[in-house]
Amino acid sequence: MEGDRVVLRPLERDHLARCVAWFNDPDVTYFLARDEPLTMAEEERWFADYRSKVGEEIYAIEVAGDHIGNVGLHGIDRANRRASLGIVIGEKDQWSKGHGTDAVRTVLRYAFRDLHLHKVNLDVLDYNDRAIRLYKRCGFAVEGLRREELWKRGRFVNLVRMSILESEFRDARPEAARGAASRS
Ligand SMILES: CC(C)(COP(=O)(O)OP(=O)(O)OC[C@H]1O[C@@H](n2cnc3c(N)ncnc32)[C@H](O)[C@@H]1OP(=O)(O)O)[C@@H](O)C(=O)NCCC(=O)NCCS
Repeated sequence: MEGDRVVLRPLERDHLARCVAWFNDPDVTYFLARDEPLTMAEEERWFADYRSKVGEEIYAIEVAGDHIGNVGLHGIDRANRRASLGIVIGEKDQWSKGHGTDAVRTVLRYAFRDLHLHKVNLDVLDYNDRAIRLYKRCGFAVEGLRREELWKRGRFVNLVRMSILESEFRDARPEAARGAASRS
């Protein structure tokens, strides 16, 4: 899948070593629900399990051929036409350059146009201002606060639940959502 600046490719085994480095970087995991150290063996077991599942799709985010992060749709629920979105840009020198915005828009276009989903949701730590700004820029709305949902680095922290409907994506980016719009 091609965005304006990123290319999204299905996650492969070759991507895993980089993922392990990112998930062991405390500057990255500060913004994620996951905070425990991760070994390559654990990551390989996770990948084998991931491959056997339906309803999970994770894509490597590439910029100029470099793998800088991952974006995924989780728990794809065909009956209710919904899924959850997750994103991590693990290469910190690639933060705040617009890649995350482009990756989210690209995966939303796929979710609504190709998978015909109705709703995509996510949870974000309430202090993750950059991510919340990105999601709002892409058309997500806040549904509510999941109070003190996680124990993180010595304190309980809140998660913000956000979501976007297909119609909202279409209204926000009519040209990007063309395929979705043409179905209705
Ligand atoms: C959160 C995260 C995905 C955001 O991605 P990102 O690429 O850093 O964010 P973006 O660059 O798209 O957006 C950040 C800034 O870039 C700017 N930007 C957006 N599109 C742009 C473009 N086309 N050109 C230049 N700049 C752009 C925006 O103005 C934005 O600034 P602002 O938010 O201060 O207004 C990424 O920083 C990350 O993975 N962080 C660590 C893990 C994490 O937080 N994951 C999310 C968990 S819910």
